Amino acid sequence: MAEAENNRISKFPFMFHGGDYNPDQWTHIPGTVDEDFRLFELANINELSVGIFAWSALEPEEDKFDFSYLDDIMERAEKTGKAIILATPSGAKPNWMAEKYPEIRRMRSPGQGLAPMRDEQQLRHNHCPTSPVYREKCRIINTKLAERYGKHPSLAMWHVSNEYNAGCDCDLCREAFREWLQKKYGSLQALNEAWWTGFWSHRYSSWSQIMAVDPSIPAMVVDRHRFDSGQMLNFFLAEAEPLKEITPDIPLTANMMEAFEPLDYWSWARELDVVSWDAYPPYHDRSDTATYMAPRFSMFHDLKRSLKNGKPFLLMESSPGPTNWMEINRLLRPGQHRLKSLQAVAHGSDGVCYFQIRKGRGGSEKFHGAVIDHIGNEDNRMFREVSELGADLKKLDAITGAKTPAKVGIIYDWESRWMLDASNGPSKFSKDHDRAMLAHYTPFWKMGIPVDFLNGDSDLDGYSIVIAPQLYMLREGFAERVEKLVNDGGKFIATYLTGIANETDLVFSGGLPGPLRKVLGILSEEIDYIYEDERNSLKITDNAVKGLEGSFTLANVCDVIRTETAETIGVYTKDFYAGHPALTRNRFGKGEAWYIAAASADGTLLDSL
Ligand code: GLA
Ligand code: ZN
Repeated sequence: MAEAENNRISKFPFMFHGGDYNPDQWTHIPGTVDEDFRLFELANINELSVGIFAWSALEPEEDKFDFSYLDDIMERAEKTGKAIILATPSGAKPNWMAEKYPEIRRMRSPGQGLAPMRDEQQLRHNHCPTSPVYREKCRIINTKLAERYGKHPSLAMWHVSNEYNAGCDCDLCREAFREWLQKKYGSLQALNEAWWTGFWSHRYSSWSQIMAVDPSIPAMVVDRHRFDSGQMLNFFLAEAEPLKEITPDIPLTANMMEAFEPLDYWSWARELDVVSWDAYPPYHDRSDTATYMAPRFSMFHDLKRSLKNGKPFLLMESSPGPTNWMEINRLLRPGQHRLKSLQAVAHGSDGVCYFQIRKGRGGSEKFHGAVIDHIGNEDNRMFREVSELGADLKKLDAITGAKTPAKVGIIYDWESRWMLDASNGPSKFSKDHDRAMLAHYTPFWKMGIPVDFLNGDSDLDGYSIVIAPQLYMLREGFAERVEKLVNDGGKFIATYLTGIANETDLVFSGGLPGPLRKVLGILSEEIDYIYEDERNSLKITDNAVKGLEGSFTLANVCDVIRTETAETIGVYTKDFYAGHPALTRNRFGKGEAWYIAAASADGTLLDSL
């Protein structure tokens, strides 16, 4: 029990049920907040996330602050026993600020496929993470929030900014990138070697020559990703500084999105007390990925739980109804809200929160689902489903802080994904990282076997099975950790496109899959990428595993390999490499290392393994 308490996401011993609440948009309509608090009781709402995007209400003019609306909400929360997740407002800067300090606006990068230009102060999430002016403005308002509400009994957690993203290409950011590179490589010679800049005569002879990201230097693209993710994290740390100083006991979170490519959530999670994220599963989706949606969102939940080593996370946003931003925003069928909410809890969320509680009357999200609809009362289906779920969650308070240990680990490495995506070729299919992850996650999901996700630098101790789907980039020491795992009796499974390059995208010389060649006992000689409508097939030739027999359809990638110490379990049946191994097993110490050389067209091979 004590362990569970330590694992709780906040001091409140209950499942959170609440979400984004924006009375700062309603200050001109008297009576709204009174009505909201009446409805909260009926909806079993026990948490409010406030202050997200509220900067123009909190600081309507430079250095003129008005906390009256927040004071009122905090007081009401205390009286009614609600937890407050208090946001810092940096996700959207006020117009007066963008006008007075144009340098704080984000510079669109050429990598975004558009002409470079300063953000025109539209939308949100459009600030420069490097700008000292913006950092100072955030420091001032965050300090005021922490001083004013830091000791308030309802304060449960800091919600720092909102859905951080990355990618400013202004002069300040470019200069910061150069400094980052100098620190990383020490000398231009080291950088030139790591980036293979002899190619197309790209050798740098001074740091100032490093300008826009050059897609013909994939190692630079990856370093720029590392920098962009790290620079936004550095901005987060600057935002968090006054909060940590003034309120050391209040946990910090920053809400994430799925497996958002621009941010390496492993490095972010190290700096957060609580991982939280925003899930909008389109369970009505009719595209070819529709069947993947349920495991897909389970996978994202498990990824979030894994980011902090199994500690519960928080479903910070979800919609009790449709969204407004999909092509087709279908209603949730009766019961679907309960289903997807309890799915999150089952995978480790200690609460179900919404975007948003009261639906706005204007703005681009006025048709997004909310707990309180435009009609403003409790007499509608969405409201009833929300309040029923709130009642369900109350029965689950006792499991807050609980952990589910897993014996299966799947490597989900952002840096490797960046690198594969940055490479010209080999084929577009291989680049659907989440699809490749899902192919290996889904069989376990179907069997109800818990899965952890791991980074390429994670400790593998304690896992029985570790899977590396298309782990293109291998980090220093990864192969040694795999050898130890297998030697001690574990199973390692790697696929095509694993073990191709080192951490600066230099392809391993001396035979692929590089440092994993020994433990896998194979040599990859050539990789064939077949057309979308083509298929090959794999025939099991050795019934080594119970239930693994017959043939399996293959698509997209066929790695032509040769066994060294491994045994052939299955072979290709078509093309000039018919009869060559497509599935191998290498006994190594007390364990085994498997290599799946081709992508299964329908997942059945993986279900059987
Ligand atoms: C994101 C944002 C919210 C809102 C929702 C709409 O998750 O954080 O502010 O825009 O999307 O689905
Ligand atoms: Zn910038």
